[in-house]
Amino acid sequence: MLECLPHLEKFIREGRYVADGASASCFSALFLREVKAGETLRVEDLYPQPDARRVYDRPLDLLLGGWPTPLLKVGEAPREAWAKLEWYNPFSRSIKDRTTYALVRSVEGDRLVEVSSGNVAIALGVLGILLGKKVKIYLPSAAKYVEPVLDVLGVEHEVLDVTMTIEALEHIKGDVAKGAVHTNQFENDANFFMHIRTAVEIDWQLSSRGIKPSYVIAGAGTSGHSAALGFYFGAKYGARLVAVQPSDWIPGLRRTESGMKWIKYVPAEVVDVSFEQALEGIKTLARRYGLLAGLSSGAVYFEYLRRRSEGVYLMVFPDDIYKYLDLLKYK
Ligand SMILES: Cc1ncc(COP(=O)(O)O)c(C=O)c1O
Repeated sequence: MLECLPHLEKFIREGRYVADGASASCFSALFLREVKAGETLRVEDLYPQPDARRVYDRPLDLLLGGWPTPLLKVGEAPREAWAKLEWYNPFSRSIKDRTTYALVRSVEGDRLVEVSSGNVAIALGVLGILLGKKVKIYLPSAAKYVEPVLDVLGVEHEVLDVTMTIEALEHIKGDVAKGAVHTNQFENDANFFMHIRTAVEIDWQLSSRGIKPSYVIAGAGTSGHSAALGFYFGAKYGARLVAVQPSDWIPGLRRTESGMKWIKYVPAEVVDVSFEQALEGIKTLARRYGLLAGLSSGAVYFEYLRRRSEGVYLMVFPDDIYKYLDLLKYK
C-alpha cells in the first residue's frame, strides 16, 4: 500500500498516469480491473456515469448507476461548507455500500465472513445476495439493532458479547479455517482505494462550481474514507484533513490509538467529539436544513461549527438518523 502512494499522488495531481510494472497493481486496485503496464490511466474514467432518468435493469445499478450521491451546501462564506450525503446509497443507506462493494470485488471465494458494527453488515448481506455469495456476520453487542434487518435478508449472523468491532475479530478465525474469506474492512486496501474514487466523485461535483476545499472533516472508524479523502484533496489542493474520533462513544467511530491502518499515511489533525456534541450537531443540522443525519454525521458537523478558520470545508455525512432512534430516545 505505502508503495502505491507516490503513484497515486502523481495520478491525482496530473489526472493522467502511464502505469508501469511497479504501479500496475496499485491501479488495478483503484480501477477494480486488471491494469497492465503501459496503459494510460485517466481520472475521468473514474467519474460516475449516472442514468439521468434513473431507470435500472439490475439492483446493483442502484449503487453503481446511482452515483453521485448528493453534495449539499451547509455553510456560507467565509466558512463555506459542503456535505456529501452518503445515506443516499441504496443498500445500507450509508457510505459503507461503497466500501463493501470494493471489499467483495477484491476477494475470491463464495463464502465471506466479516465483523461489523452495523452498516457493513447490511451492505454485505445485500451484496452477498446480489453477487451470489454466502455471508456470515459477527456483530458486537452494540450493533444489535441491525439483527432484524439481517433476519429479513436471511443472512447468517452472531451477536458477540464484546463492545468494539475490533474485539470480535478473534471469532472469525474459525470460519476462515473452514474456508471462508475474511473481507476485512480494517486491513483490506480495497477500502482506501474505493474512497479515492469517492474523492474523485466529490471533486467532479465541486469542480462544477469551481470549488477547491481547504479542509476535509470526516469521522474515523476503519479510517478508509477519511484517509482517502484527506490524501486526495491534500495531494490535489493542499487541503488539510480533520479526523473526528469519539471522546466517549459514537457508533461507527473509534479512537485512532485503537489502531487504524490508513490514517497513518496522511497528515491529520485528530479531534475529539462526544456523544452529546454529536447529538447537538444532529439537532442543528435538522433545525437549520431539515437534514436527519446520523450520529457520526452530527459529530462531523459539530466539529465544523466550532472551527473558526475561514476557507471551504468538505464534510462527509456517512448515514442518517434512522438506525439510531433507540439511542436518541433515552437522551
Ligand atoms: C455511521 C458511520 N460513520 C462513520 C464510519 C467510519 O467510516 P470509516 O470506516 O471509513 O472510517 C462508519 C464505519 O463503520 C459508520 O458506520
